[in-house]
Amino acid sequence: MAEIIDTRSEPDRAIETACAVLSAGEPVAIPTETVYGLAADATNAEAISRIYEMKGRPRFNPLICHVSDTAMAEEHVVFDAVSRQLAEAFWPGPLTLILPQRPKSSVHALASAGLDTLGLRMPEGFSRRVIARFGRPLAAPSANTSGRISPTSAAHVQADLGSKLKLILDAGPAEIGLESTIIKVEEERLRLLRPGGLDAAEIEAVTGLVVERPEGAGATIEAPGMLASHYAPGAAVRLDAKDVGKGEALVRFGGRPLPGESEAAMVLDLSPAGNLREAAANLFDYMKKADASGAATIAFGPIPSEGLGEAIIDRLQRAAAPRG
Ligand code: TXA
Ligand code: MG
Repeated sequence: MAEIIDTRSEPDRAIETACAVLSAGEPVAIPTETVYGLAADATNAEAISRIYEMKGRPRFNPLICHVSDTAMAEEHVVFDAVSRQLAEAFWPGPLTLILPQRPKSSVHALASAGLDTLGLRMPEGFSRRVIARFGRPLAAPSANTSGRISPTSAAHVQADLGSKLKLILDAGPAEIGLESTIIKVEEERLRLLRPGGLDAAEIEAVTGLVVERPEGAGATIEAPGMLASHYAPGAAVRLDAKDVGKGEALVRFGGRPLPGESEAAMVLDLSPAGNLREAAANLFDYMKKADASGAATIAFGPIPSEGLGEAIIDRLQRAAAPRG
């Protein structure tokens, strides 16, 4: 099992130990405000391949690189005016920008899967302090086995990857609970490559530009590795359930009971008060809890599609997609 260091009680030891493990070319699980990340030195090819190896992830899938400040970002990518405006408005935070990589950038091609762009973000919270101390960008996908549900707590990471990992930093439950929103700016057009923890409406409000969704929701996003079936629990998943069958687990929203609940294996409500932020923060944890109930099917009640509902529904559709 991995060592877990609590960043709230031992912040200094957490940073020093993490930097020592990272310097040795080993991944460390770090808390970000979106989900827990499996972080490695983005300039070290062997360290990056350890990420792919631990996750069992296809190598063509590019990773998001995390920076601690704007100066570190500028060393590796070139900002256009709109991307700069977005970074100023939303960093640190749950926004990833796809930007051209500078020729002199030391981020290894394995992190970007050989693309000439980098997915970059500045995370909020403790992980940012780790990056600042480490002094180089950290490549970090979510800290889960490829295709499984993303972890929003140190315990989730320990259960999935603990036997392969040396160190997990524990900062408590992830505040946002959904991966970052991914945006690519092309000639003043905003393309949404992945809905996530930053509401697209906030991006539109800041830039005055329309956020364009790719056609065929989630089907062939230009970003390689946006596999349709992702975030998969072991159980089958049924969406937009109007009722719940005997022995099914139910995950609903907004405090409204559905017919059949008395015979359900388990009933969870993502936000009884109908708050989408709260629902996002609970989503992956409740998917895991419902899965652990042993029910063969998890039924999800309807979720409103506005605001963060877009990203929640995206993750549910991936969880329900045919496995392959
Ligand atoms: O919230 C998050 O973003 C989490 C936490 C740990 O920061 N990280 C995360 O990273 O979700 P990851 O590596 O799982 O996200 C990878 C996705 C790829 O599948 C792809 O969609 C997109 O980010 N991506 C990364 N680099 C890209 C690039 N150069 N061009 C297009 N898409 C890219
Ligand atoms: Mg992931």
